[in-house]
Amino acid sequence: MDTVAIAGWETRAAALTAELVAAGVLPDPEWSRAFREVPRHVFVPRILGDDRTPVQVDEAGWLDLVYADETLLTQTIAAGDGLGRHEMPSSSSSRPRVMATMLDRLNVQHGQKVLEIGTGTGYNTALLSHHLGAENVYSVDIDPSLVDGARDHLARLGQHPQLAAADGADGWAKHAPFNRILATCAVTCIPPAWIDQLTGAGRIVAPLDAGEAGPLLVMDKTAPDEVTGRIDPYPAHFMPLRDRADDPLGQGQTTGFTGTGVPHYGTTGLDPALLTEGGTDLALFLWLHAPGLRIARADELGRLYVNTAAALAEVELAAGEDGTWLVKQRGAFRLWDIVEHGYATWTALDRPGPGRLGITALNSVDGQFAWLDDPDGAHSWPLAPTG
Ligand SMILES: C[S@@+](CC[C@H](N)C(=O)[O-])C[C@H]1O[C@@H](n2cnc3c(N)ncnc32)[C@H](O)[C@@H]1O
Repeated sequence: MDTVAIAGWETRAAALTAELVAAGVLPDPEWSRAFREVPRHVFVPRILGDDRTPVQVDEAGWLDLVYADETLLTQTIAAGDGLGRHEMPSSSSSRPRVMATMLDRLNVQHGQKVLEIGTGTGYNTALLSHHLGAENVYSVDIDPSLVDGARDHLARLGQHPQLAAADGADGWAKHAPFNRILATCAVTCIPPAWIDQLTGAGRIVAPLDAGEAGPLLVMDKTAPDEVTGRIDPYPAHFMPLRDRADDPLGQGQTTGFTGTGVPHYGTTGLDPALLTEGGTDLALFLWLHAPGLRIARADELGRLYVNTAAALAEVELAAGEDGTWLVKQRGAFRLWDIVEHGYATWTALDRPGPGRLGITALNSVDGQFAWLDDPDGAHSWPLAPTG
């Protein structure tokens, strides 16, 4: 079957583009033209549906799925943590409105060179190639099989950007410098190579791997060894930058806390329900205090769980007669104590969200920090190394 010329794709692509324009995420007519003219279906011949059942090119409903404003999962990998193995997402074609937003934030001009980290299906690479010319587009993915697939998809449209199977954390020194670096996988800090390989007035757009919050970083080069920018509240939610093709987790991530050791029991005056009520603003603020933090409320067990790879705290949702809540903590440090401190600081500072937070990153992993309101202000937090 010639899937490039499949019947009905143009009207669906046009309808999706109109939806994105109406949503305000495609303000630039040139990017709308790319979304209308690049056939997404060529890049996703096999999608994993909600229950992970494959939906393929010749099946009913496939084309409608392809042109919906949805993330299309295309690959999972099993990850083990001692409690069992789980299939975890490892590649997808991102939600079109998120892609459009990131391309808008990239603010790329004709004649400029872009490095994309996370080729995946190749669809976003095709949008970039349509807009800038494939000769200005470079893209890497850690998984060689994805790069092969993307190269094939792109060639069917006559597009031949430079692709490589490589760890995107290293950028692509051979073709540097780049005017723009666009990551479609999430980072916990800016890989130093990206800063080194960015031109003078260059920009990096990358999702921040901050748990529930998952905002975007829009970072401009402010010195030869430094980028800085505010955290954009747009909820991007991407899979992590990982350091192995056969592992879906980023460096230092686990599917949960699996440590053992003697628990510490105590009580808290912080109502655990406030943690989930604080939404993504609070989640991001707490993540700055405890990188990798995950918050999960289990009403059926009557508990709130917070964990990082190294520590776990379980808090009873029901208060005791004295108005405090029971806490059990295990692991390398007392995570709930950090959460209590973070919550108190968040309320004292008037509950800041991403718009008041920014990041300054030097080209070393220990020279990167998040700040409140101003890089030289009173509040800053060091960033954790990324995968
Ligand atoms: C959300 S998908 C990318 C979507 C893609 N831009 C598209 O349009 O289909 C994230 C991708 O990042 C890739 N990735 C994860 N870690 C990476 C790394 N260290 N270097 C390069 N690519 C990586 C994954 O293999 C996955 O394909």
